[in-house]
Amino acid sequence: MIRQNLIYSYSLGRGALFLSEMVLLKLFTKIFAGGTSDFNPPKELVNQVRQSLFDLLKEDAKKIEDGVFPLSVLYPESPLSHLKRLPKLFWDGLGIEKRRSAGRTTVFSDQAKDEAKNKPIYFKRNFHFQTDGYFSDHSAEIYDHQVEMLFTGAADAMRRMLITEIKKRSGKTDGEGLKILELAAGSGSSSKFIHMAFPKTRLTVSDLSESYLDKAKFRLKAFKNIDYIIADAADLPFRDNEYDVIVCTFLFHEMPLEVRKQVLKESLRVLKPGGIFAAVDSTQYHDRKEFNVFLEQFPIEYHEPFYRNYCENPMEDMLREAPFADVQSRSAFFAKAMSGIKSCASS
Ligand SMILES: C[S@@+](CC[C@H](N)C(=O)[O-])C[C@H]1O[C@@H](n2cnc3c(N)ncnc32)[C@H](O)[C@@H]1O
Repeated sequence: MIRQNLIYSYSLGRGALFLSEMVLLKLFTKIFAGGTSDFNPPKELVNQVRQSLFDLLKEDAKKIEDGVFPLSVLYPESPLSHLKRLPKLFWDGLGIEKRRSAGRTTVFSDQAKDEAKNKPIYFKRNFHFQTDGYFSDHSAEIYDHQVEMLFTGAADAMRRMLITEIKKRSGKTDGEGLKILELAAGSGSSSKFIHMAFPKTRLTVSDLSESYLDKAKFRLKAFKNIDYIIADAADLPFRDNEYDVIVCTFLFHEMPLEVRKQVLKESLRVLKPGGIFAAVDSTQYHDRKEFNVFLEQFPIEYHEPFYRNYCENPMEDMLREAPFADVQSRSAFFAKAMSGIKSCASS
């Protein structure tokens, strides 16, 4: 219990760091780019959100204590790398604010224009008003840090909800014999946790962005048994019945409804009979209704054109319609872990 409390305290401290960086960033952009927001949720609601954050971090600490995943998932990057990124983040904040106030959502550098060629139309945009969307090394370098700031240091704990689903469903402790495919891995945050929790698995890390996949490769270079591939989650370059487990984190809320359905269809095709599909993504309107004001505000402040439709269409229903069997979901803070099984009848 002492160890669990220490882990929890560490996560709280980490959250406080990202929160203070976010407060400073907001102040900085307000002074130098005039960014303002009149969103002012009731104090009582903010307290409830804070409590749900604490609950998530406590549960995460307990999972580490119980050995669901190792303590190493918490090892931080070097403080120097963290600090060196801050000027870039603050400078980038000004660009984000400028695009936000001008309502510009397709502004790309030459590298980004080049990388965006031949990508699906819905994908070619500055999601979150971020510089270059998902199409440059610069974007891939600062993305994870930006997400942690947005979620007060809870993004990684939300991603780790995925591990619990896979462990519960597969009954495997080290991943021996499992072939896992990760869709839309981004710069590899969840991939790292999957590998740490299942060191004996053969993991395929995929994404549609070259820059993000390169960043993932770089971050995971110390790990063995990982293959990397550029892949569209809605049109997978794999044979039928190839993987035991398919996972993704924070993909669906950035896709149009038809593409979400197509990703589930492709996952079903590529999974072996009895295979596991597990995803972590944003909560939706039906999950915790009192938090809906935050879900409604998110796409107003950050460019997320498909988010509202995502929130309106329960993922659990879509998984059942795919059809996956034994669909389950659990939410914590602003994340939801969902999973289902490919029944033998679907193959
Ligand atoms: C919000 S980020 C999540 C990244 C990562 N999974 C995480 O937890 O941070 C969404 C990711 O989905 C990827 N993506 C979007 N559409 C995709 C598609 N059709 N196929 C594969 N990846 C896609 C983007 O390149 C980006 O890396």
